[in-house]
Amino acid sequence: MSQAPSPQQAARLTIASIARMRADGERIAMLTAYDFPTARVLDDAGIPMLLVGDSLGQVMLGYDSTVRVTMQEMLHHTKAVVRGTRRALVVADMPFLSYGVTPEGSLENAGVLMREGGAGAVKLEGGERSARTIETIVRAGIPVMGHIGLTPQSIHQLGGHRVQGKTREAGRQLLADALAVQEAGAFSVVLELVPEQLAAAITERLRIPTIGIGAGAGCSGQVQVVTDLLGMSAEFTPKHARHYAELYQTIRSAAETYRGDVQAGTFPGPEQSTRMDERTLDEILGRTVLDRADGMAAGRGIPLDRDL
Ligand code: KIV
Repeated sequence: MSQAPSPQQAARLTIASIARMRADGERIAMLTAYDFPTARVLDDAGIPMLLVGDSLGQVMLGYDSTVRVTMQEMLHHTKAVVRGTRRALVVADMPFLSYGVTPEGSLENAGVLMREGGAGAVKLEGGERSARTIETIVRAGIPVMGHIGLTPQSIHQLGGHRVQGKTREAGRQLLADALAVQEAGAFSVVLELVPEQLAAAITERLRIPTIGIGAGAGCSGQVQVVTDLLGMSAEFTPKHARHYAELYQTIRSAAETYRGDVQAGTFPGPEQSTRMDERTLDEILGRTVLDRADGMAAGRGIPLDRDL
C-alpha cells in the first residue's frame, strides 16, 4: 500500500490528478464527508476524493430520503468539509431539483457550490436525461461527476433501493447513460447498485474513471458512505458496505462510561481541573482581615464569607 502523502506537503488534488490515477491503474478510494473533523481525519488518511453527498439528508439530518436536502444545507456542509481538507478533491452533490429544471438554474447552483462552498467539482444524477445539464455546467468551467444506476433522488420513481441494469433493456440503457455522461464532459461517473460484470464492462468502455458503490471491484474506484464504513448505525448496514470500525459501540460505551463517572463524581479529576492561588481565593470570598473591617464595600449582592 502506498504511503499517504502528508497533507502539509501535498497540493490540492484536481480532476487532472484523478485522471492520472486512472491512467496509472491506481484504484481511487472515495468517501463521503459531511463535517470538518471527519474531513480532517479522512484527508490526513490520504483519501484523495471526498464527496459531500446528499446522503447528508439521512445520515446527518435524519430525513427519510435525499429528496428533502436543500442547497443551503449542501452549501453549509460543503464549506465545513472544504475547511477540513488540504489535499482531497471535494465533490459537492447537487441536491434534488437544484439542476435539470433550467440550464441557468443548474449553472447558478453549481456555481454557488464552487464559489461559496469551495468545492472542486459537483456531482449530479442521471445519464442521458442529464447530459445537457452536464454539458452546460462543464462548459462554464465546473468539473462534473455523473451518477447513474440507482439514483437516490429518483427513489420515488424507481420504487426502492434495487440493483439496476439487470435486464437486456435496462443494461443497454445503463451503457448508453454512461457514454452520454462521458460525452457530456463529466470527469468521472458513480455507478450505484449495478451488477459487477456490467459495471466492469462499462468501466472498460469509458475513458473516464468509474466510481462504484455496490458495483463490484471492477470499477476504477470505490465510494462509500463514511458512517457505513465506520459502523455508526446500530440498525442497518447496506449489503455493499464493510465495517472498518464499530464506532456506534465505541461511542456508546464511551458515553455510558462518562455518564457513570459524572454520576460517581470521578469526572472531572485533578488532570481535568485547574487550581488557583488560595490567598487570592480568600480575597475573592471576603475572608481577609481587610474584608472584615467596617465600611468595606459590600460584595455587590454576592454573599461573601464574612456575611455567611
Ligand atoms: O450522496 C451520496 O452519498 C452518494 C453516494 C452514495 C455516491 O451519492
